Amino acid sequence: MTKRGLEQLVENASGTFTARFGRRPKWIAAAPGRVNLIGEHIDYNDGFVLPMAIERYCVVAADAKPTNDGTAAVFSVATNDEVTVSLASPRPHEKRGHWSNYFAGVVSGFLERDVRLTSFDAVVESSVPVGGGISSSAAFEVATATLIESMTGTTLDLATKALLCQKAEHKFAGVPCGIMDQFASTMCQADHLMLLDCRSQQIEQIPFIDPNITVLIINSNVKHELSGGEYAERRSKCESAAKKLGVKSLRDVSLEQLMGAQPRLEAVEFRRARHAVTEIARIMTAATAIKAGEWSKVGQLMYASHESLRDDFEVSCDELDSLVEIAGEIGPAGGVIGSRMTGGGFGGCTVSLVETSLANKVADSIVAGYEKKTGVEPTVITTRPARGAHIV
Ligand code: GLA
Repeated sequence: MTKRGLEQLVENASGTFTARFGRRPKWIAAAPGRVNLIGEHIDYNDGFVLPMAIERYCVVAADAKPTNDGTAAVFSVATNDEVTVSLASPRPHEKRGHWSNYFAGVVSGFLERDVRLTSFDAVVESSVPVGGGISSSAAFEVATATLIESMTGTTLDLATKALLCQKAEHKFAGVPCGIMDQFASTMCQADHLMLLDCRSQQIEQIPFIDPNITVLIINSNVKHELSGGEYAERRSKCESAAKKLGVKSLRDVSLEQLMGAQPRLEAVEFRRARHAVTEIARIMTAATAIKAGEWSKVGQLMYASHESLRDDFEVSCDELDSLVEIAGEIGPAGGVIGSRMTGGGFGGCTVSLVETSLANKVADSIVAGYEKKTGVEPTVITTRPARGAHIV
């Protein structure tokens, strides 16, 4: 999506607000989805991740209610339903996995910080595909938090804001996620990748402006339902492996140490830990290679990351493997530098680096090959690194 795309989204949300509530919205906040170039399932192991914001946003438009009844009325354009959230004691929706939980969870986070809200109406509209592994939920949380900051005149420091959103996801959506998505949606900058040290929360913004390189995101358009519990299971195996190794997290383990400790670990713990330890090493090499413009090296690291996620971490699926295989078959001669699954896994998207001059051709070939193999039509997103959350 171009800047015009965000403008269009804002216009739509604003128009829907006016049609529904009979006045114009006073506040509009936008927060982007993200794609992670490398460093998957690493944030909760205290390692490094390398995401960028994408030109797909969640927009929340709002205005105070004419009378204060202690609630927020939130209308979702995507699901065409309205939910009433108590501002004094927000609770998760009775339907498990309901979209409004992200909103209510963020309201709850502000309450915990003694930020009181008066009643308001809101409309949420998003161009971040749901279930695509490119952070539609973090975009919604961060857009909501940005809106509330503006409505209440409260400015949280950026890390506090991202952590508040992460907590909303833990407590209201029941997903024990790491910090990557909310940090990315809050702090990514246009034309930069964000190298985030998930232990110290230090950030290095790495310029990503080579006009010859394009980021191609392909949504497999499948989402395997086991994703919820599997994520928590992966996290807990990493934690139990770290515990057996006597360290705080897998960030503190070298490959040699891990190999030496293999007999003390369950086979599954060992493989999960091997992914984490090798992936942390790959990110650092990739970050250096990106700064030096050594793209083919970056590409090789992306394929290695995919293999590790597929074989050791077991969070890929046939459809993601097919997308990466097809990209690999096109290869450097056809303009593909590297490719891997991105996000939590079990469906969702792949991210590929491609030569800009061949990007359309590559996308067409991957779409055709994937359709032929799986019978599913994928969706293509090409994007520049976008700007993080902001008031519109
Ligand atoms: C999800 C989580 C993140 C991260 C990724 C995997 O997106 O929300 O915290 O763990 O999966 O890298």
